[in-house]
Amino acid sequence: MTQSQKDEIDFTALPKIELHAHLSGSISRQCLHEIWLKKKAEGKTDLEDPLVVMPEGKHDYDLKTFFPLFSTYTYRLIDDAWSLRYSTLSVLRDFAADGVVYLELRTTPREMPAAGLDKEDYVRLVLDTISQYEAAEPPASGPGMMHTRLILSVDRRNTLPEAQHVLSLAEKFHSPDDRNVNVVALDLCGDPSAPDIYKFAPVLDSRAPRRRLIPTLKTTLHFAEAECSSSDAELSTLLSWQPDRIGHVIHISQTIREAIVARGGGTDEKRPYGLELCLSCNVHAGMISGGFEEHHFGEWWQEKDCVVVICTDDVGVFGSKLSNEYALVAHHFGLGRAEICALARRGIDVIFAGEDEKARLREIMWT
Ligand code: IMP
Ligand code: ZN
Repeated sequence: MTQSQKDEIDFTALPKIELHAHLSGSISRQCLHEIWLKKKAEGKTDLEDPLVVMPEGKHDYDLKTFFPLFSTYTYRLIDDAWSLRYSTLSVLRDFAADGVVYLELRTTPREMPAAGLDKEDYVRLVLDTISQYEAAEPPASGPGMMHTRLILSVDRRNTLPEAQHVLSLAEKFHSPDDRNVNVVALDLCGDPSAPDIYKFAPVLDSRAPRRRLIPTLKTTLHFAEAECSSSDAELSTLLSWQPDRIGHVIHISQTIREAIVARGGGTDEKRPYGLELCLSCNVHAGMISGGFEEHHFGEWWQEKDCVVVICTDDVGVFGSKLSNEYALVAHHFGLGRAEICALARRGIDVIFAGEDEKARLREIMWT
């Protein structure tokens, strides 16, 4: 594709679907700074300015430096109802301003003891903020309102009782008819060096007794993110849980690749399998060897039994908006306008919202 052909695509105006975005990792540094300024003025924080801790332009966090960012900084700053609402609203506005028309936001329920909030309060606050945003901020122009659904994350470092609590919250806030903003799925995320994921089967295996009671609650799993979490044994187990989608999909053997193409270890339904691929995150964090051209997007995007969905993961950390991820794909893999529009639209098939939302997206997304 020539430069002038590429320029014809307005990647921000392109209506897009974002399916893999962590709430706390999607908060912009400017938003963190605003929260910090208010708390500092009120004498409520002794943290350093986020713009000093995470300078604008620094995106080279790897798997060793990335996870402590949350435990040592973000979670200590976002520690009450006001900052949770403020940051969630800011994340929603940022995605909408970037042309995202459907967002699945994921977050790990977290208690905020100093503010008297438990994990249920946390989830309710995030859902309420999304509902209020959708009611109050219709777009002035553009393709349409951004609709959001929530995914609750189990952290690999969780105990089984903690994971079961996340499932209880999902059960409580899931709405099978998808009539409103609700929890649509569970996720497995967190530091891939935490080894013992097998214990989560009662929560994350879609065939587990509790999960069979709510078949409309879906599952997505961080998958083969780092070499230490990518043995065939671990990946076969994850696939045997029949997740509805998987994310990253980096360090896989030929056997696992074939199992993915066969739709996650043999689900009965015949439908393409959703892969959430996050290019900038993988490149900046050194999770793949080489640059964008070497990214496994190139191996997967034309695989007919899979649906590749381009996602940001943690735009607040890695600094690349979804529109930029599409521009990178166009640039490094030579996709033209029709291919970019088709790539964006194919994501509709693997969203976790119901048929009404899919129909809305088929109306507004470019062909
Ligand atoms: P939160 O769940 O909204 O608090 O978002 C931040 C959390 O998401 C982090 O503490 C990690 O556990 C998780 N997370 C963010 N990005 C990644 C990733 O690339 N791999 C695994 N976990 C991640
Ligand atoms: Zn992720």
